[in-house]
Amino acid sequence: MGPPGVGKGTQAERLGNYFSIIHLSSGAILRNEISKRTELGIKAKQFMDVGKLVPDDLLLNMMENRLVQKDCTKGYILDGFPRTIRQAEGLEQILINQDQELRGAINLFADEDALIQRLILRGQSSRRRSDDTPDVIKNRQRVYWQQTAPLLDFYRSRKQLLKVNGLGSIEIITQRIIDVLNE
Ligand code: AP5
Ligand code: MG
Repeated sequence: MGPPGVGKGTQAERLGNYFSIIHLSSGAILRNEISKRTELGIKAKQFMDVGKLVPDDLLLNMMENRLVQKDCTKGYILDGFPRTIRQAEGLEQILINQDQELRGAINLFADEDALIQRLILRGQSSRRRSDDTPDVIKNRQRVYWQQTAPLLDFYRSRKQLLKVNGLGSIEIITQRIIDVLNE
């Protein structure tokens, strides 16, 4: 978990390789649906283009279908999901149904201005995303603080929140995450 640009995707990919488990990014799954022009993709696009969250029902359905697949049985790292209390409750239910347990919710934190810069830079690169424009980045950050940050308390109260400083080199941050998981 963490605000846009904090490195969720970058770190989740590296941790997936390190632990030999799959990395599931809700944003990447949605962008794939958009590129295939599926019904879900068409619905999701209108929210993503302006930096709003895609409705919970769509997300929960999509993630539940994904998490019951065979490649998820030995574990996975989620990136960008859950993002609302309702999604977190939905995930708890999925885990119960699958007889699995959450190892921890990693919260990457960082100074917001540094993050805007990262995303503006990506917006100028070949890896740019349509939502990496200054206005949409600001909106994504606002949405994070309004709708996703309450999840920090949700996981803190369950003693599952693991806080990690998201500023520094990519390699150092990966090591910090591995260290808190081993504590
Ligand atoms: P999503 O794809 O999850 O985007 P986001 O949260 O806005 O965040 P980003 O993916 O931009 O940032 P990140 O934290 O992954 O950082 P990254 O590693 O890329 O969601 C997009 C949209 O999909 C949402 O707005 C919403 O509409 C919808 N959506 C997705 N999930 C949803 C859900 N559960 N419910 C409802 N709607 C949902 O890094 C960013 C940049 O910084 C990169 O260029 C990277 O190379 C660079 N970088 C990374 N680490 C470092 C470092 N340590 N130092 C310097 N640069 C770095
Ligand atoms: Mg990402």
